Amino acid sequence: MAFAAIISLLLVFPVFTSALPKRDTSQAAWDALNKTVNGQLYTAIPFARPCFQSSSLAGTFDEAACQSVQANYLNATVRSNTFATYMASQSETCSATGAQCYLDWQNVTNPAAVSSSETCSQGSVSTHYIDVKKASDVQAAFQFSSKTGVPLVIKNTGHDYAGRSSLANSLGLWSHNLKSKTFNAKFTPQGCPAKTTFPAATIGAGVQTAELYEYADQQGITIPGGACVSVGIAGGYLQGGGHSWLSNIYGLAVDRVLEFEVVTPTGQHLFANACQNTDLYFALRGGGGGTFGFVLSATMKALPKASYISVEVTYTSTPDTLKTFLSFLISNAVKWSTDGWSGQIRPGAKLVLTAVNTTEAAATAYFSDLQGVAQSIGGAFSVVTTPSYLAFHNKFIVPDALNELDGIPQTVGSRLISAQTFSNSADELLDSLVNIVTNSQVSFIFANAPFSFKQDASLGPASVNPAWRNSLWHVVAGAGWTFDTPASVQSIIYDSLTSGIDTLRNITPSSGAYLNEADLHEPNYSESFWGSNYDQLVQIKKKYDPQHLLDCWHCVGWKGAADASFSCYL
Ligand SMILES: Cc1cc2nc3c(=O)[nH]c(=O)nc-3n(C[C@H](O)[C@H](O)[C@H](O)COP(=O)(O)OP(=O)(O)OC[C@H]3O[C@@H](n4cnc5c(N)ncnc54)[C@H](O)[C@@H]3O)c2cc1C
Ligand SMILES: *[C@@H]1O[C@H](CO)[C@@H](O)[C@H](O)[C@H]1NC(C)=O
Ligand SMILES: *[C@@H]1O[C@H](CO)[C@@H](O)[C@H](O)[C@H]1NC(C)=O
Ligand SMILES: *[C@@H]1O[C@H](CO)[C@@H](O)[C@H](O)[C@H]1NC(C)=O
Ligand SMILES: *[C@@H]1O[C@H](CO)[C@@H](O)[C@H](O)[C@H]1NC(C)=O
Ligand SMILES: *[C@@H]1O[C@H](CO)[C@@H](O)[C@H](O)[C@H]1NC(C)=O
Repeated sequence: MAFAAIISLLLVFPVFTSALPKRDTSQAAWDALNKTVNGQLYTAIPFARPCFQSSSLAGTFDEAACQSVQANYLNATVRSNTFATYMASQSETCSATGAQCYLDWQNVTNPAAVSSSETCSQGSVSTHYIDVKKASDVQAAFQFSSKTGVPLVIKNTGHDYAGRSSLANSLGLWSHNLKSKTFNAKFTPQGCPAKTTFPAATIGAGVQTAELYEYADQQGITIPGGACVSVGIAGGYLQGGGHSWLSNIYGLAVDRVLEFEVVTPTGQHLFANACQNTDLYFALRGGGGGTFGFVLSATMKALPKASYISVEVTYTSTPDTLKTFLSFLISNAVKWSTDGWSGQIRPGAKLVLTAVNTTEAAATAYFSDLQGVAQSIGGAFSVVTTPSYLAFHNKFIVPDALNELDGIPQTVGSRLISAQTFSNSADELLDSLVNIVTNSQVSFIFANAPFSFKQDASLGPASVNPAWRNSLWHVVAGAGWTFDTPASVQSIIYDSLTSGIDTLRNITPSSGAYLNEADLHEPNYSESFWGSNYDQLVQIKKKYDPQHLLDCWHCVGWKGAADASFSCYL
């Protein structure tokens, strides 16, 4: 209450909003915050701290603790249960200064990473964090930040490629332990007419993909999520768009979210859906995480359990076969997407396309020409039925280690490829893809843009870039580096990904990129991530976060790369 009053005063007298009060980071201020959040305030110590002799941070070298860190250094489960770790591990560091607390991820016992000349530093890991349990914890944090000027960052699983869930010298809000899950066969969003019901699951913001899939399977429902099982569902994944292998069939995650439970930076705890707080509902359906408020939970439409027919091609590429195969895919992509096939292509290795409501015999006949091409390049073709989404996921997605690369410094670049590009610029698309695939450490073609999916008009529009709807493919290239790669070389890696994707940008001028899997230096990021929705998103940001308590890299209305908050970025 008092908080809301302070905010409205600030709104009435804008002169006071121009300068935030001086930072008060005294122990007394932290202790008071800790009391308000019932002792859920913690200091964050870098994960590998016990392996270092040299550090000014709390803690000491500890052989046994270090061995446990080594054993779990690349373990996605342990990492996501630990606040001070990030999937793309450069988010733990201050890239620009080289301050880090790394082991050698390629050899976790390599003494060179922890020798006495190496110092374990805090990097971009928050100094403190709150293990969020309820709305009042978040309200206390916004109030604390507003009063003291200590910046905030929201962290869920730490999978963001652009480091949006870490921030040097900040207070972190950790949503990881919000693990509630409930299924309601007749869910009515708050404020909607009682006759409006959906089968739906409400999940806490900390629920991760694997947990959702197990739960949905037990309930006899389907809720698609992403490929990486340790990514969160309701955090950055959903708020940025959220594609699955089957999103050409089922839409993006934002197409199936019915309601968000949110604490806004102004301290309001509210429910946003198609009937109330509709501007916030729109913004959270693609505007990006960490920007409009702290999402406590989200309610996702539950689809019935279904069985899936998948065609799979595996092959080993040579430059010739790569070109033959990609060329064939390009000439058939519009047809396949229109007919409801959705999946993933690993250029030079394999393809999986999946549909519902068909049969193995019909799929075999439909893809007879694909089978012919697969054989001509020495590949294997098969058609497989899986009886549920979980079975589909376990069969096709889990075995691929590239879907889980936790604890490795890495980056990506990407582009959404519009349907017109496949007819207007097929040759350039082929050349560009061959070039990207050949010159990238890893590359993916997600043949899963929601091209044939029909949106539920009753939910109103989502704020993801409308370019998603005209696209067939989301092309991603990635690169990683070693624990001791100098900042200058990391910059070269970032730059070469940016220029590597330029050939795709040139032939898709009115398209865009997926903000959750985008180039760190995406050109024209606001147009690229949100297209015509950007201006409206900026207005909504101003309404719900008038003091600008939340900010992140290339997020709606951010302060820009020159702001001191982003001085660790390259
Ligand atoms: C290996 C791998 C595979 C991936 N596969 C897919 C895929 O198949 N499909 C897909 O769409 N994406 C995929 N992604 C991208 C993924 O969507 C993003 O990494 C996403 O940001 C992860 O969200 P998170 O909340 O788990 O991560 P975090 O890094 O913790 O958070 C990401 C952003 O959301 C904000 N945020 C987190 N929680 C909340 C909250 N409760 N309220 C408000 N803001 C919040 C953070 O502040 C940050 O800005 C993949 C990423 C990786 C690393
Ligand atoms: C917060 O309070 C709890 C319980 O009193 C205590 O265990 C914890 O160390 C405190 N956190 C900090 C950062 O002081
Ligand atoms: C990762 O850690 C979890 C939790 O300790 C453990 O159950 C799992 O087996 C580990 N995974 C691997 C691949 O070691
Ligand atoms: C890892 O480093 C240790 C210490 O230098 C070395 O003995 C070991 O052979 C290395 N292991 C690998 C797989 O390179
Ligand atoms: C598949 O068939 C079911 C049952 O007839 C139907 O409800 C569903 O909409 C169909 N799905 C698609 C993607 O066509
Ligand atoms: C960025 O947008 C402007 C204005 O729309 C356009 O002129 C320019 O070519 C774009 N630049 C890139 C690199 O896409």
